[in-house]
Amino acid sequence: MGTVKRENWSGKFGFILAVAGSAIGLGNIWKFPYITGENGGGAFVLVYLGCILFCGMPIMLCEFAIGRHTKKNPCAAFRELEFGRSPMSWFLALLLLGGAICSFFTGKAALGVISLGAAFAIFRFGFSAVGFFTIMAAMLILSYYSVIGGWIMQYVVLAFSGKLAVTDLESARSVFVDFVSTPRAVITWHLIFLAVTAAMLWGGIRNGIEKWSKILMPLLFILLVTVILRSLTLPGAEKGVEFFLSPDFSKLSGNGILEALGHSFYTLSLGMAISITYGSYLAKDQNLFFAAGWVIVVDTAAAMLAGLAIFPAVFAMGFAPNAGPQLIFEVLPSTFNRIPGGFGHIWAGFFFLMLAIAALTSAASLLECGVTFLVDEFKLPRKPCIVMSYLGVGLFGMLSAAGITGWDNIPLVKSTLG
Ligand code: PHE
Repeated sequence: MGTVKRENWSGKFGFILAVAGSAIGLGNIWKFPYITGENGGGAFVLVYLGCILFCGMPIMLCEFAIGRHTKKNPCAAFRELEFGRSPMSWFLALLLLGGAICSFFTGKAALGVISLGAAFAIFRFGFSAVGFFTIMAAMLILSYYSVIGGWIMQYVVLAFSGKLAVTDLESARSVFVDFVSTPRAVITWHLIFLAVTAAMLWGGIRNGIEKWSKILMPLLFILLVTVILRSLTLPGAEKGVEFFLSPDFSKLSGNGILEALGHSFYTLSLGMAISITYGSYLAKDQNLFFAAGWVIVVDTAAAMLAGLAIFPAVFAMGFAPNAGPQLIFEVLPSTFNRIPGGFGHIWAGFFFLMLAIAALTSAASLLECGVTFLVDEFKLPRKPCIVMSYLGVGLFGMLSAAGITGWDNIPLVKSTLG
């Protein structure tokens, strides 16, 4: 098979929208508003912005640069950049070996096995193993992200069809528990969500991801602003704005600062092969600083707007903000359905549609990492690689979907979004 010329984004606009699509996801709409409210509102936002600017942005620039320079997936990119075996990779492998030994001694056998495997892989393959881990991390995240994406799609249908007409937490909870404890329904929606994600990649970079990002990202912002307008004009909305934004430095703990740092990585999709993969389709003449700057502005704006869409309505309708799934799947359906005027289910539908769009564009970036890896490493055409990635992630996700009967069953989800 001859070498196919690597595609490029059509220009900076398409690239920025696609990276922003990856960055804006469940983390922005689901996690950020809540951790902000909990950790001192405006005070937390300041720390978060510092983390984004001084840690997130430089790392994002490095990832773009590695991708654009090598024009390869992370595994091949690190292989190329290592120039033979660098002492750093031996050092890293030794560090992991030390970590494995400590883990075994402290009884954390699973962590020990993982660290030992990683140490061995780096001894054997050098930094390209690190690139491979980032791709595996993306696939692992996608396997639960698409399960939740499936829940959200189901909620879009339920909301618009008026079947989510709950106005109290008890009934909202029973709708949620009924759904997540029916494996067949959860698995079906997970596979549908993943199929839509794969369809977004089908046309390639320009006619696939880029085209879809250009349609979906503006739609997401339109929906977000529409929900905000409704939320902010409800009587009593100001209490929600106060919870979300009024700075309270006494609530900002060391843990809160760490949370801001961790979230800045998660929200910008860093360390997960994505910016390297997307950067590998970037033309050499594009200004990386400009692109990273815009991605950060758009991502932060989406997170702030999400808080303004959620909390004013929650407080105005007499609920308390809750963490994680309770907020999204219990408090919010009840909140929107209480909005007077008879269109509560439509507001709930808009909200879940917006969440589904945010999740889809992030999922597309995750799946693309696997696809680009297969295309580059095995010199296969793109479409079979999309099908293979779909099947791999689909099967893995099914395992977790089948086992989920409650929120606590997914430790990965809890640690990143809960
Ligand atoms: N950035 C996405 C969010 O905020 C999540 C994500 C993480 C997507 C890593 C891709 C890679 O939800």
